[in-house]
Amino acid sequence: MSMNRRAFLKTTGAGLMAAAFPLSLVKLAFGGEGSIPDFTFGYISDAHIQQIKGTRFVRNWDMGLIRAVREANLLTPRPDFFMFGGDLAQLGKKEELDHGLEIMSNLRGKVRYVMGEHDYYLDLGKYWQEKLGPSYYSFDHKGVHFVVLNSILTYDKWTYETWPSPMDRMLAMARLDNPKGSPFMVGEEQIGWLKKDLAKINGNTPVVVFSHSPIQKIFKPWNFWTQDAEKVQALLKPFEKATVIYGHVHQIQYNQIGNITFQAVMATAWPWPYPETYSQLTNALPKITVPMNRADPFFERDATGWQFVDMKSGNTAMDYQLPDNQNRTVMFDAATGKPKDVKYQDDSRRIPPQTHF
Ligand SMILES: [Fe+2]
Ligand SMILES: [Fe+2]
Repeated sequence: MSMNRRAFLKTTGAGLMAAAFPLSLVKLAFGGEGSIPDFTFGYISDAHIQQIKGTRFVRNWDMGLIRAVREANLLTPRPDFFMFGGDLAQLGKKEELDHGLEIMSNLRGKVRYVMGEHDYYLDLGKYWQEKLGPSYYSFDHKGVHFVVLNSILTYDKWTYETWPSPMDRMLAMARLDNPKGSPFMVGEEQIGWLKKDLAKINGNTPVVVFSHSPIQKIFKPWNFWTQDAEKVQALLKPFEKATVIYGHVHQIQYNQIGNITFQAVMATAWPWPYPETYSQLTNALPKITVPMNRADPFFERDATGWQFVDMKSGNTAMDYQLPDNQNRTVMFDAATGKPKDVKYQDDSRRIPPQTHF
């Protein structure tokens, strides 16, 4: 990126405050009692930095991430840390990762990264890990146990024995609707690690898992899917408060499976359509338990915005701030035991979902 830090700060002008924030500002508030203080963290995801040639990159994707970083830098009070939810690069190239990390280096505060499939399938995560360290790990912060998973692995045969070149493999995984792709998975090695990691954690400690793909089975043809999701869910079952926050789907998405609340974060690059087919196909398991709608998937900022997640009840309540659209609040409804879109549940007020083929 040619813009240095000073030039970058200079360009953050007065008009900026009017823009919506394409990041998730997560607010964890535990009611002031007990040992967990109120704190926030920011979440930026799915930048898909894409090299055209040499030093030329797709400008729209650059601008999405630059905007998120600029606006995150204006947050007051400062979030305790930031997460990046994966797919920093489009085709896993060093140039893309370097360029993306250069933009991210302008973000003030500690940043932790989740591995996306677009970061991985060219060199199998080698350069990403060289720059950012292990692709799965955990940390504790103010009484909350956070786990980062690498959920975008797949069968060894597909990874190692199927493709004539690394770029063929990358391209096979990079498309949304690709019959040559392979289901994502966390894998036995990591599940073993997670089991050990969680064994140390008390059942009443809130656990928040960050993954790239959803740790649930939503829509296989688009790989909104994690093949061994149930094994991870089983390890989260003993916890009173368990939340999975994921990227990859480039849209607002939420679900409840048993004690686990699922929340997707939006992309800085582009929205994926929200398929009506979720409810039409038999391989969409489990069925999304709450009807959702979205606005316009062809509006470039539709899947971008920012949100607060408030956990004072022990369940996530996410407030989505959408640019040029109605804000959304998705809260846990104790009566139904599921998250509820408080603004859009009424059919008469709902924007119909797009039909997608
Ligand atoms: Fe993505
Ligand atoms: Fe992805």
